[in-house]
Formats: sequence, structure tokens, C-alpha cells
Amino acid sequence: MSKILAIYGSPRRKGNTSLLLQKAVQGARATGAEVEELVLRDLKMSPCLEIYGCKETGRCVIDDDFQKVYDQLLSSAGVILASPMFFYSVSAHTKILMDRCQSLWVRKYWIEKRPFGKSNTARKGLFISVGATKGKKLFDGALLTVKYFFDTFDAELWRALLYRGLDFEGDILKTPEYLEEAREAGWDLALAVSKSRKRSTL
Ligand SMILES: Cc1cc2nc3c(=O)[nH]c(=O)nc-3n(C[C@H](O)[C@H](O)[C@H](O)COP(=O)(O)O)c2cc1C
Repeated sequence: MSKILAIYGSPRRKGNTSLLLQKAVQGARATGAEVEELVLRDLKMSPCLEIYGCKETGRCVIDDDFQKVYDQLLSSAGVILASPMFFYSVSAHTKILMDRCQSLWVRKYWIEKRPFGKSNTARKGLFISVGATKGKKLFDGALLTVKYFFDTFDAELWRALLYRGLDFEGDILKTPEYLEEAREAGWDLALAVSKSRKRSTL
């Protein structure tokens, strides 16, 4: 069974995206998948310093918790990222992780010289997000950001669960159908990932 990495991007441990992600993790585990959980607020991770030490090997030279995350991303077959909308983007914790993945971008496009625009979708990514407001464009910016973050480690944006009008901790509990949707998405992702892995080893 292929490994899935679940990334908690909210500073609130029991916030809306965390509860949704827990459900998705439950769903994935119910298929027998191995799921590793990563709580970004618990990590010591510097923002990208733009020194391009990664130009030599494709590995970031800042010695902190990102080193382990880098390996975890590359050893997963699927990723579930949960972040609330903060100023029409992802949370600062999430953005720090994304920017550190510039090292993966450098590895892929500068060192391995892989062509732009020809996406290799060896991995699958599920994005879960929540915002307090209800505007049509609430998730537009974040979706682009997530798509290109996923691309650094060859993941396609396989599905996005986006919920509006949820603000306070526990608001998500008033819409159990969203939690159920998250559980199903976790289940579906684990099956999709394991199916495509089997196909690629045939
Ligand atoms: C710093 C900050 C910025 C926010 N920016 C937005 C925003 O741009 N749009 C929006 O709809 N909600 C915004 N919110 C509200 C959160 O998205 C909302 O409370 C969400 O439910 C939090 O998710 P969580 O419980 O998983 O942390 C913001 C909240 C904070 C703390």
C-alpha cells in the first residue's frame, strides 16, 4: 500500500481544516493505506532565504525540520494539504513549506532540466480549505498556488474540497456532510493512489 502524507497547515489544532483533514485521514486509513501526519505549527522551519544553496544538489541547505519533510514528500504517493484561507491565500505556516520546496523546483527544472508544462503526475494531491466569507473568487489564488506547489514534487491537484462561510472553531461541526465528504475524499485518494502505483509497476 502506498504512503500518504497529511499536512495540517492551520495554526489552530482543532480548527475547521484540521477536523476535515482528520476525517480524510480516517477515510484513507480505512482502506489500509499508511498515512503520516505532519503538523506544520509544530515544526521549526525557516522561510526560504533565497540563497539558492539548492542549486548544487537540489537539496535545501538550511538545516532545520524541512530536511525531513523533503524526504517525506518524495517518499509519498499521495499528499493531503489542509490550510485555511488567510488573506485569499494559504496560511503562513503552509506558505513557508511551499517556499522551501523551491529546492524541489530547482532540482526538477534546473538540475534535471525537465521541460516546463509537461506535467508528470506520479503523485496525487488533495487540497482542503475553508474560508469565512462566501465570495466566488475566495479560493482562486490559493488554487494556483497549490497547483504549482504540488508540481514541485510531481503531484497533480487531484481534488479540492473548498468550503465557504466557516469562521469559528467548530463551525465545521454544523455541516457534517462536509466532514463526510472529506472522509470519502481520503478514501478515494488512497484507492486512486494505490491503483496508479499498481499500474506503474506492471
Ligand atoms: C490571518 C487571517 C486571515 C484570514 N483571511 C481570510 C480571508 O482572506 N478570507 C476569508 O474568507 N477568511 C479569512 N479568514 C478566516 C479563516 O479562513 C476562517 O476562520 C477559517 O475557518 C479558519 O480555518 P481553521 O479553523 O482551519 O484555522 C482569516 C483568518 C485569519 C486568522
